[in-house]
Amino acid sequence: MAKVRSRFVCQSCGTAYPQWLGQCTQCKQWNTLVEEVVERALEHRAAPSSLRSRSAKPIAIDEIPSQDGPRTALTDRELSRVLGGGIVPGSITLIGGEPGIGKSTLMLQAAMRNPGLRTLYVSGEESEHQVRMRADRLREGGKAASADCFVLTETGTQAIFKHIEALKPALVVIDSVQTLHTAALEASPGSVGQVRECTAELMRFAKATGTPMILIGHITKDGFIAGPKVLEHMVDCVLQFEGDRDHAYRLLRPLKNRFGSTNELGIYEMRGTGLAEVEDPSQVLLGDRADRPSGVVVAATLEGMRPLLVEVQALVSSAVYGTPQRSSTGFDLRRLNMLLAVLEKRCGFRLGAKDVFLNLAGGFRVEEPAIDLAVVCAVLSSNADIPVPMDTAFCGEVGLTGEIRPVTRVEQRIAEAAKLGFSRIIIPKGTKGVAPLKGIEVVPVARVEQVLTHLFG
Ligand code: TYD
Ligand code: MG
Repeated sequence: MAKVRSRFVCQSCGTAYPQWLGQCTQCKQWNTLVEEVVERALEHRAAPSSLRSRSAKPIAIDEIPSQDGPRTALTDRELSRVLGGGIVPGSITLIGGEPGIGKSTLMLQAAMRNPGLRTLYVSGEESEHQVRMRADRLREGGKAASADCFVLTETGTQAIFKHIEALKPALVVIDSVQTLHTAALEASPGSVGQVRECTAELMRFAKATGTPMILIGHITKDGFIAGPKVLEHMVDCVLQFEGDRDHAYRLLRPLKNRFGSTNELGIYEMRGTGLAEVEDPSQVLLGDRADRPSGVVVAATLEGMRPLLVEVQALVSSAVYGTPQRSSTGFDLRRLNMLLAVLEKRCGFRLGAKDVFLNLAGGFRVEEPAIDLAVVCAVLSSNADIPVPMDTAFCGEVGLTGEIRPVTRVEQRIAEAAKLGFSRIIIPKGTKGVAPLKGIEVVPVARVEQVLTHLFG
């Protein structure tokens, strides 16, 4: 077999070298050299015939057969929805997440629970026995494994392609892209060059054969998918699987989707028998609490397109030390400080000598400013030690002058609150087009001071 030539190219200035160097002699940057393939002779021979020598020519856009491809729906409805309604033939999806968050579990589950859909689960991280043990755990959920699920423990891309051509699966899962290696490069698996080249090979293969693939990717300490950024540009969809490891809830968020909206969100709960879809997250999050203590307020937020009611908890107490402490979980600390400053300056509350702790129940993180009003109310409620009526939900952004600013999709939030039995919701004044809904009173407020009368009567 002819050896494929490779060279090392500086990612900063493009200078090529025959061997690796720590510093580029041209632009003097350190650690910028990445191995790249010079000839693709080897790969061409192994590629399917449909891929060889197909030269493209310009074609009028109307003459291209429109192919609103038949998507493959998966039994996992959350995953299907996040992907935009199923898997598109020939598409490549990258799913990233912290170690132990449940990427392998989610994908093995998807591979096992689709009868009639032949899937190949390629595992470079776990042995066949380990995969089998996980499968047995997932089966305890009462759902039998599909006879169409195959497992392959292989990391060489060319070998994987051979098996795919023989087995002809309708879906391929690669766990993980960082374990793959191509014979074209000498660099070790997981290096920037290898990850990029392997993904490029998978990509060409998927497009040529129409086989959809899902790649699992590791993420770095900073939360980015490990490997080159170009990886995210190459693939069709990038999904992020996230959640607090101390809590059971996991969120599946599309960061990029060429075939659907990125405003979707999938919510799962990690159980002893795998990941269960959570269909009514607000219900689970709120629980049923007969009497709600002071400092607890329900916010009507949106996660992507989904309305979600979240419990905001605040604790305000006299500072023991000179400098008051501020701590926040699930909400931006700087934003909390800003809201406290607004309360102090505009509304005359003395919070300067108080410790303030804030927490969102269930390990959720909310970045939407519409949660501001609930945060402010939770702080005020805890400060005065007066509980907020438990039939009231809140939404609204708080501005620097203490004004309450309009937020998006108020109607959806109202509907969700009504569905969960709330009889009152406080919304920003000036919100247009809110139709009255039976069973729930909608109270518009313009300023933070006015909320107080609704809070404590
Ligand atoms: P895993 O899918 O291996 O994570 P990743 O591939 O993202 O690194 O998930 C591992 C965690 O999930 C592990 O800590 C145990 C937990 N788990 C359950 O709670 N229930 C289950 O049924 C399974 C299979 C795993
Ligand atoms: Mg894994």
